[in-house]
Amino acid sequence: PAAVIVAIDGPSGTGKSSTSKAVASHLGLSYLDTGAQYRAMTWWMINNGIDVSDAVAVADAAGKPVIVSGTDPAAPTITVDGEDASGPIRTQDVTAKVSAVSAVPEVRSVVTALQRAVAAAAEGGIVVEGRDIGTTVLPDADVKIFLTASPEARAARRSGELKGQEAVDVSVTREALIRRDAADSSRKTSPLAKAADAVEVDTTELTLQQVVECVVTLVEEKR
Ligand code: C5P
Repeated sequence: PAAVIVAIDGPSGTGKSSTSKAVASHLGLSYLDTGAQYRAMTWWMINNGIDVSDAVAVADAAGKPVIVSGTDPAAPTITVDGEDASGPIRTQDVTAKVSAVSAVPEVRSVVTALQRAVAAAAEGGIVVEGRDIGTTVLPDADVKIFLTASPEARAARRSGELKGQEAVDVSVTREALIRRDAADSSRKTSPLAKAADAVEVDTTELTLQQVVECVVTLVEEKR
């Protein structure tokens, strides 16, 4: 079959990563986590003493880090200047600052170019998860999914992920998540949005397996 491109967008905590990895594994496709790339950019900015609220400084530095994403859904990796960044990009500090960095147009153009190159190189097809994949990065994707879930379900899932990593309260997670989605949805350049031709799946009452089956069926129909 021809290389199929699957775009999975939506706010935080809707199950994008778990769904995307499982769909890619099931169908033998590559996988790209575009949020990890924005997090890697943010981590580099913090490490290099750049004030993330200074959009000019962030824009000037956007081309400097070398960000490389591994595309195996069973073991996704990300390096920044050759250093493994998989762990550090998930800290609360990076999470709190990533929306400011990802809103800077120069950052988006650098990262979007990386994403298109990875998708073009994935010969067997790829699942790409993010916020603007169906609208901006890969508008010709074969299948576009937009995942949603209630704020309660999203906060519960996110705190489940964070458990053991850092001590966090569900209400704090919920507030942070709502703030981040509001920032991501209201930015000027390529905001979080559902593409007109995307299929919306509300995951609030669904298990991961049900969401995966739904997406796999949609992809198989297009193949
Ligand atoms: O998916 P994740 O929560 O790791 O994404 C982290 C952040 O990266 C988002 O809050 C958003 O600011 C940014 N992002 C983006 N566009 C994408 C993917 C992520 O702006 N395609």
